[in-house]
Amino acid sequence: MPQVSFSADIKPLFRAIDIAHMKPFGVELDDYAYMSNPDNANRVFATLSPHDGEPPTMPPGGPYWTAAQLGLFMQWQSDGYKA
Ligand code: HEM
Repeated sequence: MPQVSFSADIKPLFRAIDIAHMKPFGVELDDYAYMSNPDNANRVFATLSPHDGEPPTMPPGGPYWTAAQLGLFMQWQSDGYKA
């Protein structure tokens, strides 16, 4: 599979409402410069992931990302945050 890219594979996973609701908090889900900072990407990923049997914190109430979507995000990170 070609390397996972932010514009083609990751950005489309965020809904318009996700992007709009997070901007006032300084979380720029649609911004490559923000998302390609590993600290930011890791924080975003943590909110999308279930932990200790609890559902993800984001988006509040769901719909939560599937294992395949979370896997794609991890692949994007390990591919080196391609644009
Ligand atoms: C660093 C990452 C993130 C932080 C710190 C964060 C934090 C927050 C906070 C504090 C709120 C408002 C309070 C609440 O409704 O619980 C909120 C709302 C929201 N967040 Fe996030 N969030 C993050 C990532 C995300 C991601 C990755 C998504 C979607 C994929 C998302 C989608 C939303 C939506 C849709 C709302 C509005 C919910 C509503 O008003 O009904 N957030 N977020």
